[in-house]
Amino acid sequence: MLCVEKDVSEMSDMEQKQVMLSGIQPSGELTLGSYLGAIRNWAERADQFDCYYFMADMHTITVRQNPAELRRRTLTQLAAYIACGLDPEKNTLFIQSHVPEHAQLSWVLNCYTMFGELTRMTQFKAKSAQHAENINAGLFDYPVLMAADILIYQPDFVPVGDDQKQHVELCRDIAERFNGIYGDVFKVPQPYIPKVGARVMSLSSPENKMSKSDQDPNGCVYILERPEDIARKFKRAVTDSEMSVRFDPEQKPGISNLMQIYSCAVGKTYEEIETEFAGQGYGVFKKTVGDAVIEMCRPIREETDRLLKDKAYLEQVYRSGAEKASYIASKTLRKVYKKVGFIPR
Ligand code: TYM
Repeated sequence: MLCVEKDVSEMSDMEQKQVMLSGIQPSGELTLGSYLGAIRNWAERADQFDCYYFMADMHTITVRQNPAELRRRTLTQLAAYIACGLDPEKNTLFIQSHVPEHAQLSWVLNCYTMFGELTRMTQFKAKSAQHAENINAGLFDYPVLMAADILIYQPDFVPVGDDQKQHVELCRDIAERFNGIYGDVFKVPQPYIPKVGARVMSLSSPENKMSKSDQDPNGCVYILERPEDIARKFKRAVTDSEMSVRFDPEQKPGISNLMQIYSCAVGKTYEEIETEFAGQGYGVFKKTVGDAVIEMCRPIREETDRLLKDKAYLEQVYRSGAEKASYIASKTLRKVYKKVGFIPR
């Protein structure tokens, strides 16, 4: 099921706050794709929803990580969440591995997930091709941990980019299967996918998703990188041999992707963008998009740098986030353990 912005706004008037939850793996620096596909939507909804956002550090070790780098990126990601507008007073921000109930629920859900379901996951197929030397059980089982991350907070909505839709759908299937046996234990959440920005493509190969694991360093833009690097990547962005700025993802994937990014950055519609650049060369268009992205990212980078100097504050944020998250998570886990027949300690 696809849930887009309109549905969320319509439901937000209800009296009791609905719950939103999502996470990002600190397996690389934060990309423009993750920002436009996910974080930006989170920050806009803090007043309407009870929100939980985490650093999915447990997911990252399905691929080998450098431990010191993982720690650095996890903390930087937390600072960036706050810099992107996620006020810790209004959003519960935490580190996944600080709430062990995720892993505990994941084991239970493993026993209600079919081998065949996991083999069908697109991301598993892609990642096992990419890391053929290390196709570990965690990589295979990853969507079950993701289902546990979600279901343990009983959220209504899971705001993600288009590429995570399949995992959220599997999560719904697992929840429905479990509820079918034991009654209404889990709320069955809906993915919340933005209308624009749900699938930001690589700048160098616009038929592929922009990804932190991209082999080509020019394809992926990071929201905390230096303005001159962002400018260079947009200048080199792959376009086509036509000379018209027109939205047509099939025929013109490069230009359409730049239009999507520009639309997100400045809030213009595709028609407005077409009019703005009518009769102008791609060089002007690419520079304008690059500049708009630089200006969008500048305050985020500056605030992240500032926050990273205050480690004590960041520690206090993730500690109190984990405490609040644990409270909810342990309630759901107790219920699940009881349902399956475990004796309470
Ligand atoms: P991850 O870390 O790959 O990506 C984080 C979020 O960013 C979105 N995203 C994109 N959106 C648009 N265009 C792109 N090019 C792009 N690249 C990434 C993703 O859809 C995602 O929303 N498994 C998840 C992390 C996770 C999670 C969860 C998410 C773990 N547990 C529970 C939600 C709920 C992942 O690997 O996302």
